[in-house]
Amino acid sequence: MTAFQPRVFSGVQPTGNLHLGNYLGAISRFVPLQDQMPALYCVVDLHALTVWQDPEDLTRATREVTAAYLAAGIDPKKAIIFNQSQVKEHAELAWVFNCIARMGWLKRMTQFKDKAGKNQENASVGLFAYPNLMAADILAYRATHVPVGEDQKQHLELTRDIAQKFNNDYAERIKELGLGVPNPEPNPEMPDELYFPLTEPMIAGTATRIMSLRDGTKKMSKSDPSDLSRINLTDDQDAIAKKIKKAKTDPEPLPSEVKGLEERPEANNLVGIYAALSGQTKDEVLAEFGGQQFSAFKPALSELAVAKLAPMCEEMKRLVEDPTHIDAILGEGAERAAEIAEPVLHDVRRIAGLLEARYGHR
Ligand code: AMP
Ligand code: TRP
Repeated sequence: MTAFQPRVFSGVQPTGNLHLGNYLGAISRFVPLQDQMPALYCVVDLHALTVWQDPEDLTRATREVTAAYLAAGIDPKKAIIFNQSQVKEHAELAWVFNCIARMGWLKRMTQFKDKAGKNQENASVGLFAYPNLMAADILAYRATHVPVGEDQKQHLELTRDIAQKFNNDYAERIKELGLGVPNPEPNPEMPDELYFPLTEPMIAGTATRIMSLRDGTKKMSKSDPSDLSRINLTDDQDAIAKKIKKAKTDPEPLPSEVKGLEERPEANNLVGIYAALSGQTKDEVLAEFGGQQFSAFKPALSELAVAKLAPMCEEMKRLVEDPTHIDAILGEGAERAAEIAEPVLHDVRRIAGLLEARYGHR
């Protein structure tokens, strides 16, 4: 290969309620990318196991995330849709990366600290090593582009660090075996040929961090105990309207410029949601609503959210009623994904010196 092939990879965990943050920050952005380059969209069930999951709930949630991908407009004829555990290369490469990443790197991960809370001793080893599996997800396909929300930025930096250390540690071997790709960003600190690309995070737009409807300083999250804090993709029209009506605000009218949203986290969040749903900038939204009270803005936001989300929600409900269809899509996707990941793992084994006498006999 003379250059890395552009390829998108992203994943969503099948853990409970998919919400507006997942949709605006991630899933809705996956859709246009499927027309721009080869794309893989994964339901990361092995990541879900890092904290306890009821087995039946996990199966159901895996199908539900798949239904959300399909209902949002991801086309299994274009993009590869699959669940992580069906392609064993993810777990295998994650082990190699467990041996590349340093304890110190992982100890800095803020998501681990947040999720493990005060009792880190009692967190699973998987939760600690979570980012290594995420790096394996991406690099098993040598993916170059990863669309995610802002909360994943640190994990993607770690993915680059892992790729870089692998490329450095095995630089001579990669060259000897003729498996290298010329470094697209030549730099004296790095080898001139790489095996893994340094993946580009795609964290852009108005919706990279949607906040809780109850507290504009907290991220909208699947695990928030208050259901009023988030709009679930399965909420009906009444639930969406009720949650927006109850959303926390301040007493001031909306400003007419973005600068006026500083120090007003709830107002900033609702304007951001409106902008993302309508495909406008926040300035454009404020040009229309500046000077108005929330009592006028909230009904407009509800109407927009219902118009955008209700058809998708209906389609998701229809799709989850046919698990056989969903499972067939995932099975076919896993086969196509494995076709890409198997040769990569074959290379990795050769690079690392792991003997595989059986390979040629399959
Ligand atoms: P997760 O639910 O943690 O698997 O997240 C799936 C995707 O949704 C990731 O790309 C996250 O960055 C994104 N995401 C999760 N919560 C939010 C949020 N509140 N705002 C924007 N993006 C989010
Ligand atoms: N860690 C991501 C999240 O919680 C999910 C994820 C797993 C992912 N593997 C990935 C995202 C690979 C992008 C690429 O949101």
